[in-house]
Amino acid sequence: MEQCDLIISNALIIDGSGAEGEAGSVAIKGGKIAAVGDVEGWVGDQTIDAAGLVLAPGFIDVHTHDDMAALKTPDMTFKVSQGVTTVVAGNCGISVAPFTTEGNFPPPFPLLGSESEFRFPTVDAYRKALQKSQPAVNLALLAGHSSLRVIAMKDGLDRGANEAEIAHMRELLGAALKDGCVGFSTGLGYPPAMEAPEAEITALASVLREHPSAVYATHMRDEGDHVIEAVEETLRTGRDAGVPVVISHHKCAGRSNYGRSGETLKLIDEARTGQAAGLDVYPYTASSTVLLPEFVRESDDVLITFSEPHPEHNGRRLEEVMAEWDCDLEEVAERLYPAGAIYFQMDEEDLKRILAYPPSMVGSDGLPGQARPHPRLWGTFPRVLGRYVRQMKLLSLAKAIHKMTGLSAKTFGLKDRGLVREGYVADLVLFDPETIEDAATFEDSEQPAHGISRVLVGGAVAWQNGAATGARNGSFVTH
Ligand code: ZN
Ligand code: CU
Repeated sequence: MEQCDLIISNALIIDGSGAEGEAGSVAIKGGKIAAVGDVEGWVGDQTIDAAGLVLAPGFIDVHTHDDMAALKTPDMTFKVSQGVTTVVAGNCGISVAPFTTEGNFPPPFPLLGSESEFRFPTVDAYRKALQKSQPAVNLALLAGHSSLRVIAMKDGLDRGANEAEIAHMRELLGAALKDGCVGFSTGLGYPPAMEAPEAEITALASVLREHPSAVYATHMRDEGDHVIEAVEETLRTGRDAGVPVVISHHKCAGRSNYGRSGETLKLIDEARTGQAAGLDVYPYTASSTVLLPEFVRESDDVLITFSEPHPEHNGRRLEEVMAEWDCDLEEVAERLYPAGAIYFQMDEEDLKRILAYPPSMVGSDGLPGQARPHPRLWGTFPRVLGRYVRQMKLLSLAKAIHKMTGLSAKTFGLKDRGLVREGYVADLVLFDPETIEDAATFEDSEQPAHGISRVLVGGAVAWQNGAATGARNGSFVTH
């Protein structure tokens, strides 16, 4: 008989590969999975009877802005409570590291935190801070293009970078990758990067070639009227730079673009025959980011998630505030800023098509630290499994889990994670497939999901019976 720390028995094991579930047990020893299936021959210090529950790899949230939250709120309850064990931070071009503000702090950086909190000129400095704060989930970081631009372009960001600046940014990116970043992200739809031409992006993305498994993830230049051109640009950048691409939070925003995911997915599908191209999506038809007039214009309705100067309006509809102040959109946005908003601007049919598309991964794009956050921060993963799998039968449970685990780990090069396999890290989630469901709503968004029984990070139980255990066993994940 061999001794192990924990045995989870009688579960339906859905291993993250996309394969259907199989009844079995798992033995865990020293933070790793020691045996899967038949665990005869193992004795556990502890045993959990998981009859009626699904055991899956811990969910990997591939699209987050948790960089600062992992330091400030290391319990990471909004993630652990939905079964997430690893987050990929540094998305949309904004990473806390490498970054120095020196007074230059344009939108959307306030999404991550206040200016004074940004103090990590290198990824190594951030990694040390993370090791000190000991978050409950693992974190992998992308180096943000806008962060690099702020460092390298002191006299303004409203133009393309010159040769010397590109060389500087390539150097910074190379160092970030050496320090453990898993890739590079852009936010080409945001002010600090809007004027960066495609050639600048290609020159930077090509640095990734020297780092196997590194990916280029992009919040594209346009997600509305020019979404087709933006997808084409992204795919071309990947080909020209010779690197894998991930389209972030894929959507077709604005009424006039509803239904166009048929075209965008066709483009991606054709490209995939010759290049590595993936995408992530969250299961809501409202987006959320900083409050800017151009985003309001393409939305049906807008809610305020936070306003630094006017917190009394947090959670209210922008239209009401505008009417009360009797002012136009430009003025209301300016008076509320720094501020964030939720934008209702998508079609459920597009969302369903993108979510059901086999290559898509699930990423929350959750924004922690806001007064009235978008419910995706707390609800994304259980919402996919409850609403779209169990209720709508849009896709099978095994396929949905694959989009949250095995596919995600493979795409981002997170080795020994994302599958229930012997030798893999014991990042696991145990949930009830009959009751799993999001509880967070637009009105009341900070609600833990239902149906999550236990969450293990590196073998330590971090969430159990509706409460955090206090275990903080996350680490900085590199290639
Ligand atoms: Zn984004
Ligand atoms: Cu994002």
